[in-house]
Amino acid sequence: MASRSARSRPKVIVTRRLPQAVEARMAELFDVELNLSDTPMSEAALADAASRCDVLVPTVTDRIDAAVFAGAGGRLKLCANFGVGVDHIDLAAARAAEVMVTNTPGVLTDDTADMVMALILSVPRRLAEGEKLVRAGEWQGWSPTGMLGHRITGKRLGIVGMGRIGRAVATRARAFGLTIHYHNRHRLPDALEQDIEATWWDNLDAMLARVDIITLNCPHTPETHHLIGASQFAIMQRHAYIINAARGEIVETNALCEALAAGRIAGAGLDVFEQEPAVDPRLLAAPGVVLLPHMGSATFEGRQAMGEKVIANIRVWHDGHRPPDQVLEGWA
Ligand code: DGY
Repeated sequence: MASRSARSRPKVIVTRRLPQAVEARMAELFDVELNLSDTPMSEAALADAASRCDVLVPTVTDRIDAAVFAGAGGRLKLCANFGVGVDHIDLAAARAAEVMVTNTPGVLTDDTADMVMALILSVPRRLAEGEKLVRAGEWQGWSPTGMLGHRITGKRLGIVGMGRIGRAVATRARAFGLTIHYHNRHRLPDALEQDIEATWWDNLDAMLARVDIITLNCPHTPETHHLIGASQFAIMQRHAYIINAARGEIVETNALCEALAAGRIAGAGLDVFEQEPAVDPRLLAAPGVVLLPHMGSATFEGRQAMGEKVIANIRVWHDGHRPPDQVLEGWA
């Protein structure tokens, strides 16, 4: 690959505000256009940006579809996503337009796994309800039967998707005394499986019928779109909880709302939604549900590291090498 370094600094357009230090470093290195208002860009604004830059830095709130790539007119060469999930980017259209796509894996694994663990604890132990009770001034004091939830220790956790984040969740969950079950396209190597004493289930439904808490940690792809729908809720145990800090689209929202309303499952912990930032009003009203605003990776350290990865990917690409975090179609 020929070096691009000899040419002028690449024109980089960033679609949202990034941590201050990341923006400052980008301004030193690149001919960068920042979005100082932080307003999400319309499709027209994204298409316009794509036609005026060598590198677009989008994030999960941008829909980078075929129209954006088609409208880029050949100048855009790299789509350096700020984030690990790339389901908002049409990878086939990127390939057709000869635009390379990169993401930021690894640096948000622990933060996201912490948030999953927080939800695993919060939902069965009714943390959000208890907090609201105290704030509302309605707490009448300790009582033997007050605010009872369910014990975590000894329960079966079913992890759907055993990539980096799934494994980090498993490690945490083991420390809380949960037994680990997982469904993944590929079985983990023996040593890893033994390390976390995990049981692999080839069949997702068979696992769902047996576990007490389900956490979704797979990427959103055409294969995982609405992976959990009415028939999955029908086979889960009535006392089961579902946790989703991956992507809202993995769960069919309507089926989830109906399962909660019918008491088909006991509760849900959700950090992501199908139509973000809109949240189905039935979820707002449902008991036993903890709702968070897509904040799994929201730590200062994590967002800084994500920015550094974006910068590294752009620099390596600009030097004429393959960026470390190139996303290959079909792998996401
Ligand atoms: C990601 O990186 O995909 C998160 O969902 C947003 O940080």
